[in-house]
Amino acid sequence: MTYNLKRAGFAQDGLPVDVDSEFDSPKTIDRIVQGLKAGGHTVYLVEATHDFPRWFLTHPVDMVFNIAEGIHGEHRESQVPAVLESLGVPFTGSNSVTLALALDKAKTKQILASEGIPTPAWQLFHSPTAALNPQLEFPLIVKPNREGSAKGIWRESVVGDEASLRCQIAHIYDRYQQEVLVEEFIQGLELTVGVLGDTALPVLEIDFSPCRASGEYFYSWRMKEFQGNAELALSPEFYCPARLDQKTAIRIQELTLRAHHALRCQDISRTDIRLRSDGIPFVLEVNPLPGLDPLDSNFPVMARAAGFSHERLIQRIVDLAICRFQKTRLQQSGCINPPVVQSTPFKVSANVCAEACCLPPAEASRVFPVSISRAPAYQQPVPGLFSRGASRDSTDRGEISAPNIRSIESAPLSIDVEVQRMSSVVRGDDRQRCIHMATPQLGVSTVSTDYPEAQTTSGVARREDIS
Ligand SMILES: Nc1ncnc2c1ncn2[C@@H]1O[C@H](COP(=O)(O)OP(=O)(O)O)[C@@H](O)[C@H]1O
Ligand SMILES: [Mg+2]
Repeated sequence: MTYNLKRAGFAQDGLPVDVDSEFDSPKTIDRIVQGLKAGGHTVYLVEATHDFPRWFLTHPVDMVFNIAEGIHGEHRESQVPAVLESLGVPFTGSNSVTLALALDKAKTKQILASEGIPTPAWQLFHSPTAALNPQLEFPLIVKPNREGSAKGIWRESVVGDEASLRCQIAHIYDRYQQEVLVEEFIQGLELTVGVLGDTALPVLEIDFSPCRASGEYFYSWRMKEFQGNAELALSPEFYCPARLDQKTAIRIQELTLRAHHALRCQDISRTDIRLRSDGIPFVLEVNPLPGLDPLDSNFPVMARAAGFSHERLIQRIVDLAICRFQKTRLQQSGCINPPVVQSTPFKVSANVCAEACCLPPAEASRVFPVSISRAPAYQQPVPGLFSRGASRDSTDRGEISAPNIRSIESAPLSIDVEVQRMSSVVRGDDRQRCIHMATPQLGVSTVSTDYPEAQTTSGVARREDIS
């Protein structure tokens, strides 16, 4: 596991109070390690300091659980993935390109805008004296372009006139020595949405109205840092799922998935959104390395609402990464077709087709455990069964259903599912087995997990028309 450790006492050393806000506490790291160990993994801790690459030169590992933010540089979050990519070591989460991009809020906004995803109108100041775009409407918010965890964001960051704007821009320049992002401040609901695999988790709403006495009214640094401190009146109310009608919630989840894919995030991300009072959701940023503290971070709250304990969440992230790396390996070896990720809810009303390849003859006709997730809201996968495997080079048909079916004979022909992954690639011993599932209507399939004998379970998506 690669990480950067939050050390108490930095502020006293004369460094800015928020200098290591993005880093993780020993408690967070400890809980992630517990989750990994409970998943049967042996864990080594590697702090992402300047000489961390040396460790990987002498220690071969199967997979890196990466939460490292990086210590310095414009693209610091991408440095651990870049080193691991160069060494060919698999790791969880997004690759170096995505991490570098997402750290740059303005670049992210350019990508979102080009994909038609609403994001607040903005201007990037490369110099504190640059002229203000007159089209921007006050109030504006002033933020460092390449920080996270609300670093450099205070209640004074929201400004109502040009004099205060100039003052804030100069302050950010001086303190963070980087470009300054100025955005229209969106009045409305604060929402954040996690993506796990290719599924949007239930929307989390953060209501700051109980914090009025503190003077804070959005996710400023003080609000994030002291969240939950009732004495400081910094206890926002959390609602997960958010208090939104179902249609709006789905719209927000879909928008989040688009933002996740626009940045090519992998395995996990969290998108921060402001829902304006006229119903338009504005994406503020995409976080491919969301906080994973079981108590203090928002991602685990959403995962919990979807039925994932913290332990299970950590293991799921590992499984997703294994899935990706196996899929890449299989694609490189020509075993499977390129995936099509499909996350639109749909109705399955016909047989599901399974094609099992590389399956030893003894395994060719058996019942496979599968999981189905019901649309539209994400729920825990429902166990089901898929029957009638096929031998290599042939295709066989069966039916899939949930919940509680005991055999293929009792399976109804129609089920509602939300597609998450389209097949399972299981590696046990030195055999490789693939199960692809698809429907005639959409050419998509279902989730397959928990293969009993498997050492690892993973999935790939595949579009397949059944004639
Ligand atoms: N344009 C905006 N309109 C309204 N609130 C904003 C805007 N930009 C930032 N905020 C507030 O500041 C918080 C932190 O901003 P964000 O861009 O997400 O930076 P960070 O990477 O530090 O989390 C947001 O969660 C939100 O509460
Ligand atoms: Mg944010």
